[in-house]
Amino acid sequence: MGHKVGHARPDIKDNVRGLIGLRPGPLAVLAFLPVSAQATPKATLARPSELAGVVVEHRKVAPDAGILRIRTDAPAPAFVPGQFLQVRLWERDDPLLGRPFSILDQGSDADGTWLSLLYQVMGRGTRLMASAREGDPLLAVGPLGRPFSPPTRPGVALVVAGGVGIPPFLLLVRQLVADGREVTVLLGARDTPHLYLREELEAAGARVRLSTEDGSLGFHGRVTAILEEELDAVGPEQVGAIYTCGPEGMLEAVVTIAKARGVPGQASLERSMACGYGVCFTCVCRLKRGDGSFHNTRTCLDGPVVDMDRLPDSDW
Ligand SMILES: Cc1cc2nc3c(=O)[nH]c(=O)nc-3n(C[C@H](O)[C@H](O)[C@H](O)COP(=O)(O)OP(=O)(O)OC[C@H]3O[C@@H](n4cnc5c(N)ncnc54)[C@H](O)[C@@H]3O)c2cc1C
Ligand code: FES
Repeated sequence: MGHKVGHARPDIKDNVRGLIGLRPGPLAVLAFLPVSAQATPKATLARPSELAGVVVEHRKVAPDAGILRIRTDAPAPAFVPGQFLQVRLWERDDPLLGRPFSILDQGSDADGTWLSLLYQVMGRGTRLMASAREGDPLLAVGPLGRPFSPPTRPGVALVVAGGVGIPPFLLLVRQLVADGREVTVLLGARDTPHLYLREELEAAGARVRLSTEDGSLGFHGRVTAILEEELDAVGPEQVGAIYTCGPEGMLEAVVTIAKARGVPGQASLERSMACGYGVCFTCVCRLKRGDGSFHNTRTCLDGPVVDMDRLPDSDW
């Protein structure tokens, strides 16, 4: 596509600003939003800002999935594991809105800062991401949302991820391992090509167990079956926390198991999100308040990561 690193085209920038209610200059709108993540203890979260960058690497990891590495024009703020970006990687108004993606990794080198995302094709936006080439411009807003927090009790951290639910966990595993925590990742997918990031998670220091629904690799069946096995083997009281992200049916099953075994945990909810920062109400979910009653709340502000005890016991 031939755009130079560090220079996203002005037309796409203007489009995105129009769509997300921003004007050139400081992020006046975002500055007044109730960023619930600010309440997260022990975490100093960067304020969301507009990020422009350019694709510097596109690595296919499955026929319908890939990892995009983006060089940012200006230094990117630090993301806390579990936070996301609202991304737009196409130069026209169709699709009109950006799409939410977990931050997979970030870093810096002699050329500046970079971010990476793992996408799996679902519809029009992700199909366009799959055709991205080096030099294509990206516009995004982030960091957004409430991140994961460290376990509140000693013991192994169990990560349970289904398919494209795995991206937020690479940074989390690194952080937990750096804190001296033993981490086991239970990674499930429908088949072997969709078991993403196995090597990266092991390199980050996690013990990784696999399951596939077609039996092509690891345990033949659902990832929740190896969660039950793991809890039986280790003992629920030896588990510090369960962290999970994936399809809603899997999340509901993981949360039910965690609650039944008395293990605390956090789930990252993947709702459709049109704006990503509290304006459109497309992401509303039902969560428990401190007094036990339920209320409707915006997943992009109150989540995507929520404590499991705030989720309904059934009928999500
Ligand atoms: C906080 C958050 C983090 C995410 N991180 C990642 C990530 O790291 N990698 C990744 O590949 N995907 C991630 N997703 C999901 C991703 O945002 C959607 O797959 C994407 O928006 C689909 O856009 P599309 O234009 O391709 O499909 P669309 O045309 O918008 O939708 C295609 C189909 O997918 C369904 N769909 C759209 N969004 C979601 C969703 N969030 N959950 C379930 N079904 C959905 C639609 O209802 C429709 O049936 C994340 C979502 C959230 C909320
Ligand atoms: S995505 Fe717009 S309010 Fe949550």
